[in-house]
Formats: sequence, structure tokens, C-alpha cells
Amino acid sequence: MMQDSLVELLYNEAQKALENAIAPYSGFKVGVALQAEGEIYRGCNVENPSLMMSECAERVAILKALSEGKRSIKAIMIIASDGKYCYPCGGCRQLILEFAPEADIYIASDNGIKKYKIEELLPYSFRSPGR
Ligand code: THU
Repeated sequence: MMQDSLVELLYNEAQKALENAIAPYSGFKVGVALQAEGEIYRGCNVENPSLMMSECAERVAILKALSEGKRSIKAIMIIASDGKYCYPCGGCRQLILEFAPEADIYIASDNGIKKYKIEELLPYSFRSPGR
């Protein structure tokens, strides 16, 4: 698949995911789509009245892919409902480092799409001992 068409596909899928977000407490909806071994997985944030139990969209999408046996995540797209660039939280960066170290990370806003690698978003990272 051409890179541009993958980006477009992931953008559209992340928009769909955003519509499913459950964010009554923050009012901030996030949608993610990723490609892993030819399949697309979507995720949205899911908040809970016990706020510590809320899940980020990135985490949902990555865990969906992993739990379906996918181990190679090629690209991740992140979109937020406020139209601004939504940079993943620290915890999700650590998850990406561990399970999607090679992924192109696309962050979309109303002003365009930026592309990163996890090393840029999480420098001086903690890595599993022994790896
Ligand atoms: N959130 C995500 O889902 N992904 C991010 O990258 C940043 C934050 C969610 C968590 C919470 O439901 C809401 O956005 C506000 O923090």
C-alpha cells in the first residue's frame, strides 16, 4: 500500500474511532487507528467515574492488536476532538516503545498531520532490562 493512502486510511479510521469515544468527564475525545500486519485496529478513550480506570485511545488500539496476536505495528494515527495536535501521554509512549518501536506515529490536527518516531517522543527512555 502506498504510504499516502495508508495515512489517509488511518486518518479516516481514527475519525470513526473518535466518534465512539466515551468521555463524559473530560469532554475530550480521542480516536486512534493503527495498522499491524495488514489489519487495521481502532481505539477510543473510555472514561470511568473512577477516573484512574479511564483508558487512553492509544492503549485501547494497541492492546486490541496485541490481543489478536499482532506483534508488528507499522503506523499509528492519533486524532482529538478539539482539532489540535494530541500528543500521547507518558504511559502510552512507554507502551508504544515496548510494542510498536518501529511505528510511524501520525498526529493529526485541523492544520495538518505530523509524523514522529517514538525516540523523538520518548527520549532517554526506560527499556526492559536484558533487552
Ligand atoms: N487521552 C487519550 O485517550 N489519549 C491521549 O493521547 C491523551 C489523553 C484521553 C484520556 C482522557 O480520557 C482524556 O483524553 C482527557 O485526558
